[in-house]
Amino acid sequence: MEIEFVAQGSVEGEALSAIAVPVFEGETLTATGEALDGAMGGAISRAMASGRFNGDKDQTLDIVAPAGLHASRVVLVGAGDRETLDDLALERFAANAYHAVKGSGVSVLELRLGDLSDAQAARAAFGARLAAYRFDRYRTKEKPEKKPSVTKVRVSCADPAAATAAFGPLSALGDGVVFARDLVSEPANVLYPAEFARRVKQLEELGLTVEVLGESEMTELGMGALLGVGQGSIRESQLAVLTWRGAADPEAPPIAFVGKGVCFDTGGISIKPAQGMEEMKTDMGGAAAVAGVMHVLAGRKAKVNAVGILGLVENMPDGNAIRPGDILTSMSGQTIEVINTDAEGRLVLADAIWYCQERFKPRTIIDLATLTGAIIIALGDDIGGYYSNDEALAANLAGASGSEDELIWRMPLHKPYDKKLDSLAADMKNITGSRGAGSVTAALFIQRFVTSASWAHLDIAPTAWKPAPGSPTIPEGASGFGVRLLNRLVAEHYEDKA
Ligand code: BES
Ligand code: MN
Ligand code: ZN
Repeated sequence: MEIEFVAQGSVEGEALSAIAVPVFEGETLTATGEALDGAMGGAISRAMASGRFNGDKDQTLDIVAPAGLHASRVVLVGAGDRETLDDLALERFAANAYHAVKGSGVSVLELRLGDLSDAQAARAAFGARLAAYRFDRYRTKEKPEKKPSVTKVRVSCADPAAATAAFGPLSALGDGVVFARDLVSEPANVLYPAEFARRVKQLEELGLTVEVLGESEMTELGMGALLGVGQGSIRESQLAVLTWRGAADPEAPPIAFVGKGVCFDTGGISIKPAQGMEEMKTDMGGAAAVAGVMHVLAGRKAKVNAVGILGLVENMPDGNAIRPGDILTSMSGQTIEVINTDAEGRLVLADAIWYCQERFKPRTIIDLATLTGAIIIALGDDIGGYYSNDEALAANLAGASGSEDELIWRMPLHKPYDKKLDSLAADMKNITGSRGAGSVTAALFIQRFVTSASWAHLDIAPTAWKPAPGSPTIPEGASGFGVRLLNRLVAEHYEDKA
């Protein structure tokens, strides 16, 4: 979808366009909206007076444009409280406008925001971009008239050049979110570990360095936990290492992101029930978010040193698969008795985190994983769980989460539960004997491999995949959850200040 910024009042609309204007609570219009109402002979006022539309957030009202107006439709978009029209509300305005007209046949959506600033115009464009995401690679029979008709979003503003500049970093952010969404959407027969690695290898074009380790290198390194998970698959396990050195001092310790990349999770020998198993193609959502955020950092040339590590495996039942009771030796040297082969994500993370710490000595390490069903039981579909051993990092994550509308809630690393992971036969078991606090004990397992004083673990099982639209900017399916949050965290707390 094309994004265009034009000077306010410079374009008179065009035949196959829809003009979107915000309406605030109490049915108030911007000056632009008033002018449009005048040009339409009061049609907007009449529409508002005759129906229930009143400018509440997320309401839309689509009006067929009267003769004489160079547009085919006018969409009123409820924007809520005028005083609190912040970045998120602007994204929502644009996303709602997009959804209101995407299937109407218009090819251009004009966002007429009136007296808003250029940074705000850029925000609106970003919202439309996220709303317009769809994964249609494999739909060969969809008729063109069933596809969204909007191919261009045109945002009017005071200074198009300034808005275009303001859109630069947001465009990079959108690219990263879309990259992550595409990875999560791909089926596991296409996106197996080597293919995932190939796709991130292509990010070298953006200036990232990407190394890919195969099974022989990982065997050499002693990554018995990660390799154990992948050993039942005919697909080779991979570890992708992405580095971005954008700080003034290229040797300064990086912030590191580690992602669970289970390209498909059958559960292994502890096999999952058939119902809903197809969703386990999204069990690489953590790795996708890490790849996405690295894409953003390179795309907007962030002044930071960052590392992304992706543990890429497929968890399959097989004659060669690990069994319950097997004991794996992790890269850290710690041994793990596998009680349940479906608790595989933590095994992958154990080695990926250890490798990351050994090699990069990061200042902060954050892992992301679709790790447990238990966190969905605890927090439902909208909120991810997070854990941290660092109060400042925890507070910074909460702040970034709020700013980007990627909701996370802090969970406790309750020390007394840790001993439930002790094993008779090895240094630890991969699950405890009870189902209580399943997300907490998974986090405590991971913590046994953390040496960094600044670490956070995000359990994004609830949010990586949305069976129904998550919000106007998150269509159903892959959300790209985590990319926005981590990019914001980096921008606010880890980048060199200009
Ligand atoms: N990938 C799953 C967790 C998951 C569940 C992600 C639902 C997204 C949606 C993970 O590997 C898993 O199977 N966890 C088990 C752990 C259990 C065996 C201790 C679970 O949560 O049931
Ligand atoms: Mn599993
Ligand atoms: Zn899993």
